[in-house]
Amino acid sequence: MIIVIDGPAGAGKSTTAKAVAKKLGIQYLDSGALYRALTVIYLESGKDADSFFKKLKDKDITFKYTDEQFRVWLNEKDITDKLRSSNVADEVSTVASLLKSRERVNELMREAVEHDTYIAEGRDLGTAVFPDADLKFFMKADVNERARRRYEELLEAGEETSLKKVKQNILERDYKDSQRKTDPLKQADDAIIVDTTNLDFEQQVAQICSDITDKLELPIKQ
Ligand code: CDP
Ligand code: CDP
Repeated sequence: MIIVIDGPAGAGKSTTAKAVAKKLGIQYLDSGALYRALTVIYLESGKDADSFFKKLKDKDITFKYTDEQFRVWLNEKDITDKLRSSNVADEVSTVASLLKSRERVNELMREAVEHDTYIAEGRDLGTAVFPDADLKFFMKADVNERARRRYEELLEAGEETSLKKVKQNILERDYKDSQRKTDPLKQADDAIIVDTTNLDFEQQVAQICSDITDKLELPIKQ
């Protein structure tokens, strides 16, 4: 069984999906983290597309949601700490626009969800990767609020940046992600829309859990 949440950066997808996964006792999958892992390979390749594609074939990419963190390994090396850096954020939408990147990430995700119940989040999951998902959500929020949230997270992680830079990165990614030819950020026609701009986080998690349990009859664990 697969439940998906799509939407732009900072809308609340990952924090909400993790909380829902915990409450319902299901698995969590962060597709953005996989595009970020590919971006680490791209940066290691000196941003050269041919060298990136070559490395992409050779690298073993594994991931696991453990201790409330979605961890990713490249050839058994844990690269989780690199994934949220600004270097990676600045290039990830470029890497995600490459067809070979999308094929690789989609393959990894489809394999992973075969044997368990998952809540997965990203940009194109309800439209392209899992068009037959059991339930789809599209999460959005005002861009100033999304930038403020991401800025606070980066400050907490000790990264020096400014609200202006963070907002600019989000606007650029929103644009690239929604304009790209292959599988752009798009709301599925059958998705439930959740605007989190003025929502209380706990209420939002409770609402999504009840939508899921009403429609899919999953037992709530906690
Ligand atoms: O957490 P945040 O929303 O900032 O980003 P993310 O979910 O980690 O995704 C990083 C980037 O990966 C996005 O800006 C997209 O360029 C790309 N992405 C994608 O193209 N398709 C997905 N299903 C998920 C992410
Ligand atoms: O995954 P995505 O980029 O969509 O967003 P995120 O990484 O989950 O970040 C959203 C941030 O906004 C987190 O720090 C949440 O705690 C916070 N937040 C939220 O998700 N929903 C609200 N209603 C209020 C705040």
